[in-house]
Formats: sequence, C-alpha cells, structure tokens
Amino acid sequence: MQNNNNLKIAVFPVAGMGTRFLPATKASPKEMLPIVDKPLIQYAVEEAVNSGIENLVFITGRNKTSIENHFNKAYEIESELKIKNRKKELEMIQNIIPSHVKCIYIRQNEALGLGHAVLCAKPAVGNNPFAVILADDMILSAKSCLSQMVNRFSDLNSSIIAVEKVEKKFLHKYGVIDGIKHNERDWLLSNIVEKPDNNLAPSDMGVVGRYILKPSIFNILENTKEGAGGEIQLTDAIATQIANEKVYAYEFEGKRFDCGNKLGFLKATIEYGLNHKELSKDLRDYIKNLNIK
Ligand code: UTP
Repeated sequence: MQNNNNLKIAVFPVAGMGTRFLPATKASPKEMLPIVDKPLIQYAVEEAVNSGIENLVFITGRNKTSIENHFNKAYEIESELKIKNRKKELEMIQNIIPSHVKCIYIRQNEALGLGHAVLCAKPAVGNNPFAVILADDMILSAKSCLSQMVNRFSDLNSSIIAVEKVEKKFLHKYGVIDGIKHNERDWLLSNIVEKPDNNLAPSDMGVVGRYILKPSIFNILENTKEGAGGEIQLTDAIATQIANEKVYAYEFEGKRFDCGNKLGFLKATIEYGLNHKELSKDLRDYIKNLNIK
C-alpha cells in the first residue's frame, strides 16, 4: 500500500532487556521469538510496509545481531534452496523486505528507556513525522492498527497514540491518557501519565505499542529527565508535547496481545495458529480433543 501523506519512516525500538521473558531472552532478542512461523519483528515490519512505510529504523542493543541477519540476504540458505528447487521456501526468505524499502540500524548503547531509544532515531528521522512500533504488542485485525492510524494522521496531521480499554487492576502497567473523546475512536488529549496507581489513573484507556509522532518530540526528549522505573519515558515526553500542540489518541479496531509476557505470547500463538491457513484446522481439532476441564 502507498500512503498519500508524508509518513514514510517507522522506528522499531528493539534494545530492551526482555526481563519478563527470561530465560528465553538471555542470549537472544525477545523480538526474534516466533509466533507460529515468523518472529515478532517480522510481523511488525510487515505491518509498517503494508502501511506505506519505506524507511525502517531499528534501535538495537546487545544480543540483537540476529535481527539484522533476519532482514539481510542469507546466501547459504538461498543457494541450498535453489539447488533443491524449494521455490516456496526461497520466496519466503527472499521477499521479507521489498526492494524499495530501506533498513537503518542504530545502536542504543545503554537501555535507558523507550524515550531514550526513540531519541536515538533522531539522526535518521530528522524533521519528519514517523511511526513507532513496539514489536511485542501484536494486534490481530482485518486492517492493521498502523494503517488505521495512518488514515487518521491524514486528517489530523498531529501525533496519534494507539490506546485500548484496560481493566482497572492493570492500569499501573500502562501509560494512561486523559482527554475528551470526540467521536467513536478519537480522543483529544489533555494529559498522559506513565504507570499511575490504579486508583489515580485519569481514565481506563491504556497506551499500546503504536505511535505516530511529530518530530517536535525529539527536542522534548532531549530535555526529558528519568521518570518511572528510572527510565527516560516516551510517555513523559508526550505529556510535554500535549502541552504544546494537539495530540490525539486512537482506539484501534483489533485484538491486542502483549507478547512481552509469557501468557500474552501463548495466547497470541494460539490465536495466530487458529488463523493460519495451513494450521487452522488441525490446531482447532487438537484443542477440541484436549478435553480441558
Ligand atoms: P519494555 O517495557 O517491554 O521493556 O519496552 P523490555 O526491556 O523490552 O522488556 P521487559 O519489561 O524487561 O520484560 C518496550 C519497548 O521498548 C524497547 C523494548 O525493546 C520494547 O520494544 N526498549 C525499551 C528499548 O528499545 N530501549 C530501552 O531502553 C527500553
């Protein structure tokens, strides 16, 4: 898909420690964990490319070289597959990123927080609006979450943050918005807070890992101090942006899975498996026959 606005860059912060998924993430990145047959980061990249994004900026850290390798040409496997005439598999690994799409890798030397990771993208993004995708938030929907947001961006031309309703007892794990809902899915924001107490949260709408940001966020991030958890929080920078310009939240259509935790990852595996054209029937039969009490 081509998008008709100037949103051509997506940033993928992949430098986190993945502590909630240890020991799996001790030596390999969380973003390379597969849901059915593709790593989390590939789903995220496909969502961006299908939304018209042409430049992919990965903010990487230690133990993340397998992400670069995944999107690079794999000469040995390709030549083996060619010799064996395995066309389907060859196509699967050759066309992950279309040729008009470019990848940039920037290293975040220390995991100082999501806000700091986004700031690391500044030299590649410049004065352009950009998307941020957190690969561990997977969203199952007819139209991808980012495509839905790109459409809203064409109308609003402002920063837009994806949100969903969150049970009160879990609000302290999220960025939570405050604002006015002015139609079925759009909110004009008056504030946003990172990880509030459940009882002090300004709403029950939590931020999930899709953002479209105006580049004014970079100057703000440069002056943002450590916040919750001692990290430089993107949420705190967005709170300052809200004070300076219009920022919206968008209640996306779709079902979201937090694949950064083990239960969310298992749920995603089951649901993506049930939606997989080759596996759906057998998996359905298997689950039916489990006779779970
Ligand atoms: P998370 O809060 O999920 O942190 O980060 P994490 O380190 O990945 O996982 P846990 O909480 O320790 O289990 C949200 C996103 O921001 C990125 C992560 O890679 C993830 O995509 N991130 C976080 C960075 O790129 N750099 C950071 O310093 C922190």
